[in-house]
Amino acid sequence: MSQRSRRRFLHDVAKAGVAVSANQLFGGLVRAQTATAQASGPARLYLDTRRTRATLDRNVFGSFLEHLGRAIYEGIYDPGSALSDSNGYRKDVLEEIRKLKVPIVRYPGGNFVSGYNWLDGVGPKRDRPRVLDKAWNALNSNQFGTNEFLAWCNAAGTQPLLAVNLGTGTPEEAAALVEYCNVEKGARWSDLRRKHGVTEAHRVQHWCLGNEMDGPWQIGHMPAVEYGLKAADAGRQMRYVDRGLTLVACGSSGPGMSTYLEWDRTVLEQCYPYVDAISLHRYFTNEGAETGGDSGKFLALNLSMERQIAEVASVCDFVRGRLKSPKKLWLSFDEWNVWYRQRGGAAVDGNRQEAPHLLEEVYNLEDALLVGGCINTLLRSADRVRIGCLAQLVNVIAPLMTNANGLVRQTILYPYSWALRYAGGEVLDLMAENAAVYEISATEKAPYLDVAGTVGGADGVVSLFVLNRDLAKARQLEVNWEGKAATKLSTSLVLTGADLKAVNDFGAPNRVMPKDAERPVMSGGRTMIEVPPRSYSVFQWQS
Ligand code: AHR
Repeated sequence: MSQRSRRRFLHDVAKAGVAVSANQLFGGLVRAQTATAQASGPARLYLDTRRTRATLDRNVFGSFLEHLGRAIYEGIYDPGSALSDSNGYRKDVLEEIRKLKVPIVRYPGGNFVSGYNWLDGVGPKRDRPRVLDKAWNALNSNQFGTNEFLAWCNAAGTQPLLAVNLGTGTPEEAAALVEYCNVEKGARWSDLRRKHGVTEAHRVQHWCLGNEMDGPWQIGHMPAVEYGLKAADAGRQMRYVDRGLTLVACGSSGPGMSTYLEWDRTVLEQCYPYVDAISLHRYFTNEGAETGGDSGKFLALNLSMERQIAEVASVCDFVRGRLKSPKKLWLSFDEWNVWYRQRGGAAVDGNRQEAPHLLEEVYNLEDALLVGGCINTLLRSADRVRIGCLAQLVNVIAPLMTNANGLVRQTILYPYSWALRYAGGEVLDLMAENAAVYEISATEKAPYLDVAGTVGGADGVVSLFVLNRDLAKARQLEVNWEGKAATKLSTSLVLTGADLKAVNDFGAPNRVMPKDAERPVMSGGRTMIEVPPRSYSVFQWQS
């Protein structure tokens, strides 16, 4: 697109009163009163590899392991299993996570952390107590604790995001854990680690200051001011032990909370100087799923995740302005996923058992498509979000499920694995026009196509991730290369199917699988892509 026609396009958009940027025409919500309901012809995308939004931090595609259900025991750690190595780590799971190249994993909770005494999980295994985890009403043998997790991270090729207990725990105990993990030797807690046989300090960089402290369900739940002061003191004491830490304060546990944003503001007013980031959490529901749900609306939910990111970022900047701070906080979206089936009753009550079957959500095709949409949202938000954790990794609302004989890759694994494999470098600032939209409520419309992309470093590899929310029709996307066109298509994959409710399980592990996508057609500096209905696709070009 020439400069002139781009100016013209932006002018037309402005005149029509469309209060969204061109990029948002594909990604964000389009206001009902201004959107063109039925654009004809293909949606057009203007792609200039020089026009980028931010450098992508791969930690945006991290994950999460909590002492919950069978995530740890029977998930990653199963000493009695023939599938485990001499450390008790499940080799098949480890191999899968190594192959995925998961960059960061949050641990040990979640709600669990708010009642956890880290000292119960270190030292000789035979001396560790069996403890009632009150958050999930389950028994924890403590055979797997901090040192086992950090050694597992090394084996899995990932890095830890450790959460400290700010529910029943104190700032002093949090600082003691930092010393235990990060100080080489010479003081009480560092020497205790050495006594436990771990000579080298772990040097854990990223830490969460508690978990969902705004939630009335949280052990130690407290008012925002109180939590803000506690987080400030924890941050202060932890940094006295190790100056280089990255610290994340607990933000609202979701936009549905009555204290949403107010909590974040109040907390930050107390602890802004001591933290680097604030957390966001979100779980998506397909409302009315018992009777099929509303798939069109469900597939647009990632757009509300985008709004949540914008809202929390605004609060951070508001507090920054009030405090006249030079520091700009970033966001840690450290729990997100689809989760609505296994969310009550026996599915969340461990019945005082060890490794009970909890939150074992079975994901279908439409869940995977929304996860793809969330990946697009995280890409578009890379200027502000630096850590993200798909919650969780194994057995508990997870892309991987294990049994005694092996593992199954759930549907949601595929879009997640594509983000890890194909997104990299700079996130593209894509410009779009002629995007057709559909109604998702009386006041809001969503575009059928949701597109995000990256351009990778010196070699200029371009990747595009395309969600087609249209349940009935294939949609066309015309990519107009501004500047140099990438010509060598190296990847074209699609996840789709006739049945949005299809799942993978041990009986049929490959029911929902990626397949080769229809190859885009290149002509005259443009690439025409056709994506099938109900689909998420990835395309990659070498320069
Ligand atoms: O991920 C499951 C639970 O969801 C976590 O323990 C908690 O933080 C959130 O409410």
